[in-house]
Amino acid sequence: MKKILTMICCLFLTVNSTMNAKTLVVYYSYTNNCHDIVQTLTSQIEADVLRIEPADKTQKYEANNYAIGTQLLNAIKAAPNDAASYPAIDPVSITDLTPYQTIIIVTPLWWSQMAAIMQTYLFHHGAEMAGKNVGLIVSSASSGISGVVNDCKRLVPDGNYFSENLWVNNSNRSNRNTLIQNWLTAINYSVVTDIKTPATRRTATGLYYSLSGQRLSQAPKRGIFIADGKKVIR
Ligand SMILES: Cc1cc2nc3c(=O)[nH]c(=O)nc-3n(C[C@H](O)[C@H](O)[C@H](O)COP(=O)(O)O)c2cc1C
Repeated sequence: MKKILTMICCLFLTVNSTMNAKTLVVYYSYTNNCHDIVQTLTSQIEADVLRIEPADKTQKYEANNYAIGTQLLNAIKAAPNDAASYPAIDPVSITDLTPYQTIIIVTPLWWSQMAAIMQTYLFHHGAEMAGKNVGLIVSSASSGISGVVNDCKRLVPDGNYFSENLWVNNSNRSNRNTLIQNWLTAINYSVVTDIKTPATRRTATGLYYSLSGQRLSQAPKRGIFIADGKKVIR
């Protein structure tokens, strides 16, 4: 009887962990550079995709030396905790983030900050990403991304951030396939999220991770964990 109960318990935990192992790629894109990045990314990983759209589709963000972008960002800066500071977005098609263990945010840089439209989404949903693995990919023409990283950490304060962010810009954009592949390897993506990935893409032996992707100093005596890319139940 005890054995059967243990087996049922393990089965439940396994199903439960599999249900939580999904990845969501959430992005905004005005001129489709981020869209192209997402296409390349999802040719390499399995993920659900959510595109954020501004409610006002008539805006020309590049007009008057990008003046509207400046106005939107200044409004957020003046009162970052006020929902009214953020430009309206369309309702999103994925509202429940519970099934996702990993969220990859792909956003344009505007004036060295996170594009205002993406900030709106994260203002409303960033708290739901607490404890999840969070990856950040930023697309700019040439500016460095530290301001966008700061915005992301303000809006998703309790995300379990990957060790590296990915910066795609005009000079490396055409090489994005390799850039993304290298980034996924650098953040151990296959280990923390996709335990079905072929062994050739896994990292060295002797590494143990919790199901939420946190590195463990040693193999736990009891429970479910990941060792060498395989799920282990003890
Ligand atoms: C309002 C606005 C402001 C921008 N500011 C910058 C900037 O300060 N530095 C930069 O390198 N690129 C800037 N860009 C360019 C975008 O970051 C870049 O083209 C990005 O790849 C756009 O992504 P998307 O095509 O997915 O919208 C700006 C673009 C817009 C629309």
